[in-house]
Amino acid sequence: MTQIGRVGVVGAGLMGHGIAQVSAQGGYDVVLLDADAAALEKGLASVEKLLARAVEKGKLDAQDAAATRARIMGTTEHAGLADCDLVIEAIVERIEPKVALWGQLDAAVKPEAIFATNTSSLSVVEQAAASGRPDRFIGLHFFNPAQVMQLVEVIRAITSSEEAVALGTQYVERIGKTPVQTKDRAGFIVNRLLIPFLVDAVRGYEEGIGSIADIDAALRLGAGHPMGPLTLADFVGLDTLFGAAEGMFAEFRDPRLAPPSLLHKMRSAGWYGKKSGLGFYDWTGEKPVPNPGIDALRRV
Ligand code: CAA
Ligand code: NAD
Repeated sequence: MTQIGRVGVVGAGLMGHGIAQVSAQGGYDVVLLDADAAALEKGLASVEKLLARAVEKGKLDAQDAAATRARIMGTTEHAGLADCDLVIEAIVERIEPKVALWGQLDAAVKPEAIFATNTSSLSVVEQAAASGRPDRFIGLHFFNPAQVMQLVEVIRAITSSEEAVALGTQYVERIGKTPVQTKDRAGFIVNRLLIPFLVDAVRGYEEGIGSIADIDAALRLGAGHPMGPLTLADFVGLDTLFGAAEGMFAEFRDPRLAPPSLLHKMRSAGWYGKKSGLGFYDWTGEKPVPNPGIDALRRV
């Protein structure tokens, strides 16, 4: 059986930089790839900042932090992933770019390597079929922030071999996370329940059930959630939430899953949430405040 020593991560955004960090902390050599050189630099800088913060808090030895950082190499070239034993994809939540990427990676990465998608909701087998190695293809679904959240869903597509699932599970255990196995049904376990909840929160706001602050306070104080749903939607990224809801709608055809009109408009405005500075909240100041422009948008 292949042993995993070197892990490739494609996409250095919110999820990719975290997956690279936890993989390096687990002792793997990591190659982090982003098509956009500025996004790659930002991802690597985030890893450095989080490692420095862990050292400051006394949670990590300075030497271990330096060794972790030294295990991560950045690249913008697919050829940089050639020797990876496992490649995890964390690019945009749309099927076309993912399918195109897997065809390109099949040509660039050694044939025995395992490929894994971190998709929130899209078909794993559709990606596997485009990868040239459908038996060596699985889903590994991390949660945001990957450095903190304990769970990784291990997704078996109908084409996945036992060996690929076993290797994916071993990798998850070695990085100190808890694997759960699930099937290739849109949303898997967590998002099957979480995405409809977040979409309902957006629709509820659109219908006027409460203000942004009150909807969030209600779920924090009334249901014990660590973040209100509109804060969480901004945290996940409204482009990602939109893509995940579309992916689930495409599979289940349940109108409840269709992205609400407000989500369409916010995505079109480039209001992606925390990562772009504006979403349900304005994140550009010291503390997030409800986005003052949104009521005007809601009345459109
Ligand atoms: N990146 C890395 N680490 C982070 C972080 C981030 N963005 N935000 C917080 N942390 C770390 C902090 O450094 C801190 O670490 P230490 O304990 O080692 O010091 C720890 O998390 C706790 O942080 P805070 O005390 O500042 O804040 P908190 O107690 O409010 O926790 C939180 C922050 C963990 C994010 C918490 O608010 C939470 O659990 N929120 C819900 C997150 C969630 O539901 N994630 C799943 C999203 S859905 C998804 O991921 C699937 C999908 O496909 C869309
Ligand atoms: P993001 O927008 O923060 O980052 C995506 C990165 O991918 C960007 O840096 C972009 O430059 C890069 N990229 C885009 N196309 C590329 C390509 N063809 N080749 C190389 N790099 C490319 O997105 P994210 O939030 O990190 O989400 C990434 C994936 O992880 C999505 O499939 C998403 O559904 C999934 N996911 C997201 C979350 C979340 O909470 N945000 C949680 C779990 C899973």
